[in-house]
Amino acid sequence: MTIRVDGLNIDYRDEGSGLPVILIHAFPLNQSMWNDQRDELRTLCRAITLDLRGFGASDAPAGPYSMDRMAADVRALMSALDITQAVLVGLSMGGYISLAFYRNYPEAVRAMVLADTRATSDTPEARERRLKSAEKVEREGPQAIADDMIPLLLGNTSLTSRPQIVERVRSMIEANTPAGIAGAQRGMADRNDSTDLLGRIDFPLLVVVGSEDTLTPVKEAESLLGKVKTAEMRIIESAGHLSNLEQPQQFNAILRTFIESLERA
Ligand code: MLT
Repeated sequence: MTIRVDGLNIDYRDEGSGLPVILIHAFPLNQSMWNDQRDELRTLCRAITLDLRGFGASDAPAGPYSMDRMAADVRALMSALDITQAVLVGLSMGGYISLAFYRNYPEAVRAMVLADTRATSDTPEARERRLKSAEKVEREGPQAIADDMIPLLLGNTSLTSRPQIVERVRSMIEANTPAGIAGAQRGMADRNDSTDLLGRIDFPLLVVVGSEDTLTPVKEAESLLGKVKTAEMRIIESAGHLSNLEQPQQFNAILRTFIESLERA
């Protein structure tokens, strides 16, 4: 399905009924990274995924794509689907966008899952690496970014023994355009620090992290948790940064329990 937002086509899927749960994908992937979770959740609630601007089947205008802009795209999708409040599930860049969403539309958040992400902005060194990577994708194409990022995105278990996962991630990355990847990189380079928001969170927050995540390690997840009174944390064993697609059964069980607890509340 497609909606028009800010002059762009944004592709999304909307399955099941009841409590709306919006799953926001990582960089530089697309909504299909959530296929296993959508299949699990649609029997339980209303599970919605979208291709963020620049990714998958959505349009890829010139960037940068700020986290606020992408959060506004999510809010516009909610309006189009007549949803006033939703549970946001964001992994990595999806987490940055979820926090930007909370900053701008606090009343629209019912609960949140932050997976393999951080609240801080880039260090000057990380920002510099990102801007170089944006130039590289424009020069050399998405394959170069896939080569650089796959060893960071996946945990050791997946890299050494799950070639089908490595291939799945590679095809998602390579199906994106240089403009989309560069647009999001430049947007992330300029993102706000969201640490100040954490103390304000009064809705249920679930923090999830892969035990082998080196990009946003367990310590980073713990620091998110430490600042939020209503938070709990779960570690996904034998998973790296893309914990949901590396260990879908573990991730789904945790997500299901969290959504069920919200439905009971
Ligand atoms: C992601 O998985 O979304 C990226 O690792 C985010 C980032 O580059 O900071």
